[in-house]
Amino acid sequence: MAHILAIGIATLDVINSVKVYPAEDDEIRAVSQRLCRGGNATNSLTVLSQLEHQCYWAGVLADEANVCRIETDLKNHQINTAAVLKLTEGKVPTSYITHNLSNGSRTIVHFRDLPEYPFNEFQKIDLSQFDWLHFEGRNVVATRQMLVWAKQQAPNLPCSVEIEKQRDDIEVLFELADVVFFSKAFAQAQGHTNAPSLLNAQQAQCGNAKLTCTWGESGAWALDGKQVLHSPAFPPSQLIDTLGAGDTFNAGIIDALVRGQGLGTALHFACRLAGQKCGQQGLDGLRMDAIYPKRFKIRC
Ligand code: FRU
Repeated sequence: MAHILAIGIATLDVINSVKVYPAEDDEIRAVSQRLCRGGNATNSLTVLSQLEHQCYWAGVLADEANVCRIETDLKNHQINTAAVLKLTEGKVPTSYITHNLSNGSRTIVHFRDLPEYPFNEFQKIDLSQFDWLHFEGRNVVATRQMLVWAKQQAPNLPCSVEIEKQRDDIEVLFELADVVFFSKAFAQAQGHTNAPSLLNAQQAQCGNAKLTCTWGESGAWALDGKQVLHSPAFPPSQLIDTLGAGDTFNAGIIDALVRGQGLGTALHFACRLAGQKCGQQGLDGLRMDAIYPKRFKIRC
């Protein structure tokens, strides 16, 4: 078991499942509705918690009615929230998600009226208790300060950064991380039509970091020094729900690396885990025993 701190968001996800995706200006009925906690960092933590790690979340919450659902879910997943900053103003970030039952796709409209986690709160955290830090690449300035601070305070503590969206100056984060998770959306926003092209283009800016890039049904690629690695996707027999598949992939990579596995093994495992997630609703009850090689049960 490793101690893993993630810095990023928790959201309230309002998920409407529909038979087919509506056209603009349509009016349709949802088949069902689900309210749950979401947010990339906390999603990854709930998966890591199922992989038997001790998880900690640093993020911001608003003290309003919806916060209960988020706090209860984090508690149910044994995620430590001691570093959470709770503000009396603002609203819990909320995602309105249309989940297409015919192909599992998820379309997200996100509303946010809350500051990002500030650097001065991060400085209060005792980093010596952790084996891994994971950051969502959101507020570039504060995230950079946190990464620099972490490297000063705990030079041997591995740090990963998720680069999901194009944001101003986001590339300043790359060289400060040990692992960088790029998304297909980010790669496409940079004009790349495949993952190896993105990884090769970014390598010069990433120092010695290990890089990964997911590419939907084509699987995922990674770059470790000069070595390009690929794992196919492991699609389930029926695509049920892709919401949080990327967060699950990130958790799979962190889990394998923190247990001392190589990047190729980690990539393969993360793709299997993400594939399994796509065959079920939500993130709970991933059948780790079915996909988790016995030889992983070492170290930590
Ligand atoms: C899935 C997710 C949702 C959340 C949204 C935030 O990756 O974390 O749970 O609403 O993305 O961008």
